[in-house]
Amino acid sequence: MIEFEHVSKSYGKSPILRDLSFTVPDGRFLVLIGPSGCGKTTTLKMINRLIEPDSGRVLINGDDAAKMDPVELRRHIGYVIQQIGLFPNMTVAQNITVVPRLMKTGHAECERIARELLEMVNLPYDQYAEKYPNELSGGQQQRIGVLRALAASPPVVLMDEPFGALDPMTREALQDEVKKLQKKLHKTIVFVTHDMGEALRLADNILFMEGGRIVQMAPPEEMLEHPASDLVRSFLGRQTAQEDAPILAGEFMKTNAYRVSMDRGVLECAALMARSGVDTLLVTDEDDKYLGVVTIKSIRLYGRNLSSIVPLITKDPHTVRVDEDARESMDYLLNSNDNYVVVLNPDDTIAGIITKNSMAHVVASALWGEAAES
Ligand SMILES: Nc1ncnc2c1ncn2[C@@H]1O[C@H](COP(=O)(O)OP(=O)(O)O)[C@@H](O)[C@H]1O
Ligand SMILES: [Mg+2]
Repeated sequence: MIEFEHVSKSYGKSPILRDLSFTVPDGRFLVLIGPSGCGKTTTLKMINRLIEPDSGRVLINGDDAAKMDPVELRRHIGYVIQQIGLFPNMTVAQNITVVPRLMKTGHAECERIARELLEMVNLPYDQYAEKYPNELSGGQQQRIGVLRALAASPPVVLMDEPFGALDPMTREALQDEVKKLQKKLHKTIVFVTHDMGEALRLADNILFMEGGRIVQMAPPEEMLEHPASDLVRSFLGRQTAQEDAPILAGEFMKTNAYRVSMDRGVLECAALMARSGVDTLLVTDEDDKYLGVVTIKSIRLYGRNLSSIVPLITKDPHTVRVDEDARESMDYLLNSNDNYVVVLNPDDTIAGIITKNSMAHVVASALWGEAAES
């Protein structure tokens, strides 16, 4: 069990932590979250005495950390940071077993530890044990860093934004693995992040800090239901906003719409329509910006004696921007007789068109996984 009792810390005249009190029971996962500079890292580093409190106490299993030998203390506390710093001249297996080897654990036992841990994160021992860090991806290196922190079998593991530098997919995979390892090995984990999604996924308890104070400490569901302040709510809100991603016009369009430059001749356009089996062409100016459309109908009606298509260009089709809500295009197509809307980039160049067909195909593939091409 980790206990903070009225812990305060200042640098010069700036208070950094103000009267912090909280408890992490054994085997629980606590996530520290809050805006940058609120004191998360400082709090974490007090647990392994990389930073000492000015006043108050940090107790580990009831004993004052300040009275323990720091080296001895850190042997029982794993530590994972973003710049994981694997030893480049050691193999994966050697990296994982650094601490056990320092503690003179036998060769066979070290191999057993490395094998067991690697298998737990789906990196087969026979394939990975002898590799060097520079042969691994960033996500794999970070996995090895986590395993290294676990290899000495510490009851407590501290993690300071360990996955901050990874892409979202790898990060989620590692979050799952850490959560599984923690449950399986019954570790007490204190984990720092500024990503509420990560906090909600991992935590038994979330401790939200602002300006060196605790704003709220609660399990994820409770924080979601009763955020203690507007700042907490905004952290949670950003999270819901991320999960409820906007539906953008750009995601529903076809980009292969037929287009011509305004200096093309009428006959040439008619021939292109005939060849490609379309009744409309999108027209652009000399800067590639969208001007309007010419249709086979207007060519038939007025175009025979013209050489240039310019007099035939109309702005009839409905236009939307790539970053506009696709639901409006959907409404428009369902409620008008038009067969398509034109999608424009911010600089007025053509991004594509949305047709009833292209919309239906995207919806179908999202719902049923059909990757039908129109
Ligand atoms: N050695 C230091 N000297 C002075 N100020 C520091 C020092 N370390 C951290 N701080 C300040 O303490 C505050 C909290 O830092 P930190 O715990 O790293 O925040 P967080 O991890 O939440 O982003 C910040 O305002 C930071 O600038
Ligand atoms: Mg920090």
